[in-house]
Amino acid sequence: MLASFFSLAFLVVLFCSPYLCHAQIVLPSQVAQLYSLTTSTSLPFPTTTLPSSEAQPFIISSWGLGKGRIQNGADNLDFVVDPFPNGSAPNTDTETGGPVLQVTYPAGSFSNGTGGAQFYNLWNSSDSSAFQTMLLSYEVAFDSNFDFVKGGKLPGFRGGPEIDGCDGGDAANGSNCFSSRLMWRTSGEGEVYAYILNPNNECSNKDFICNSDGFGTSIDRGSFGFLLGQWNSVTLLVSLNAPSNEANGQVAVYYNNVLALDERTIQYRNSTNVTIGGLFFSTFFGGDDPTWATPQTVHTYFRNFQMWGSSAPSNISGALVSAAPPTVRGCGFTSIVAAAVLGVVALFGSFI
Ligand SMILES: *[C@@H]1O[C@H](CO)[C@@H](O)[C@H](O)[C@H]1NC(C)=O
Ligand SMILES: *[C@@H]1O[C@H](CO)[C@@H](O)[C@H](O)[C@H]1NC(C)=O
Ligand SMILES: *[C@@H]1O[C@H](CO)[C@@H](O)[C@H](O)[C@H]1NC(C)=O
Ligand SMILES: *[C@@H]1O[C@H](CO)[C@@H](O)[C@H](O)[C@H]1NC(C)=O
Ligand SMILES: *[C@@H]1O[C@H](CO)[C@@H](O)[C@H](O)[C@H]1NC(C)=O
Ligand SMILES: *[C@@H]1O[C@H](CO)[C@@H](O)[C@H](O)[C@H]1NC(C)=O
Ligand SMILES: *[C@@H]1O[C@H](CO)[C@@H](O)[C@H](O)[C@H]1NC(C)=O
Repeated sequence: MLASFFSLAFLVVLFCSPYLCHAQIVLPSQVAQLYSLTTSTSLPFPTTTLPSSEAQPFIISSWGLGKGRIQNGADNLDFVVDPFPNGSAPNTDTETGGPVLQVTYPAGSFSNGTGGAQFYNLWNSSDSSAFQTMLLSYEVAFDSNFDFVKGGKLPGFRGGPEIDGCDGGDAANGSNCFSSRLMWRTSGEGEVYAYILNPNNECSNKDFICNSDGFGTSIDRGSFGFLLGQWNSVTLLVSLNAPSNEANGQVAVYYNNVLALDERTIQYRNSTNVTIGGLFFSTFFGGDDPTWATPQTVHTYFRNFQMWGSSAPSNISGALVSAAPPTVRGCGFTSIVAAAVLGVVALFGSFI
């Protein structure tokens, strides 16, 4: 009796562990449903290829850019024929057929000013309420000969009243801004790279690498990996913490529609002035010194940008912000240890 209880507990704990729950395929629209995100939008793409000189006015007029401009690298943006037309990203059924957005990183470029591109798509809700949960999905492809070097930025979100803040070493202070982009690292390792507060001793949690190169926090580095020469699908969820002094904000990434990371103890803000503004299209090699530079001119490609949003923030229960050490939560390492302990107890139990 006792043995079967422990065996059952063993199975329940084991199957709850993220290592085994991973195989489940969840489409972006299903994630949106899960979080009650009923408002949605997508970025229109042109029906013919456009060289940079025509791509710029297209993007500016139809993608709702903050300040009506492309901040960096406008000349590095073109709409081109899809270089990988025969392949959807794994576990997706998205076909476009039309042109895709190409970003050029000139040989030797690194940092925001010299290669890649940056712009901010402000998504204004129809009733002008602020977004506090947002989901972004898009597909990205890298040239087959792309060298990841040490890393580079990929699009995510930004928000807050300081609309140029929270990138390039301009830190989040709780009432100015936040950002949460993706990054590729060496060998294509994926992560979330965020400008957030780091309360409750967060930097001693192995899932978070703080201030490794500036003021950002690397979250779950290597929890997924980008592949060259094909489409990769990413879905990024950000749900702001609420109230402002509770570290219950969420960030999650689905890679090719399979959950890759899910952190629920984030403090994006300590003032309700910071809300989610929209897509932060930001991509370049770096890092801010030449050790990050690409040795050759290479490209990435983007298609199928979709967003969903809601004015409701996170409703998970979380720790209040204090100097106390972080509480261990979720079903990561602890559940594996618990599963092992229960398993041994169950085995032992069946012999007595
Ligand atoms: C929390 O929010 C989710 C939507 O993201 C909703 O489905 C759920 O009912 C909410 N829970 C509570 C206790 O309000
Ligand atoms: C949202 O509002 C801002 C500021 O008024 C404006 O610059 C931007 O173009 C708007 N975005 C969209 C998608 O309409
Ligand atoms: C797609 O087509 C290219 C060129 O025709 C080919 O090299 C590649 O193997 C194909 N990929 C898939 C996934 O079929
Ligand atoms: C580019 O980065 C530099 C610091 O590396 C920063 O001062 C500047 O504001 C950034 N520019 C933009 C447009 O983000
Ligand atoms: C918000 O966080 C910043 C940076 O840690 C701190 O200086 C500020 O006092 C905090 N404000 C509130 C209201 O907690
Ligand atoms: C929030 O915004 C209001 C209006 O812009 C401003 O007066 C106030 O100082 C801001 N509060 C914080 C904490 O930044
Ligand atoms: C946060 O940064 C903004 C803009 O840089 C500044 O106006 C504000 O005073 C700062 N607040 C705190 C608490 O440091």
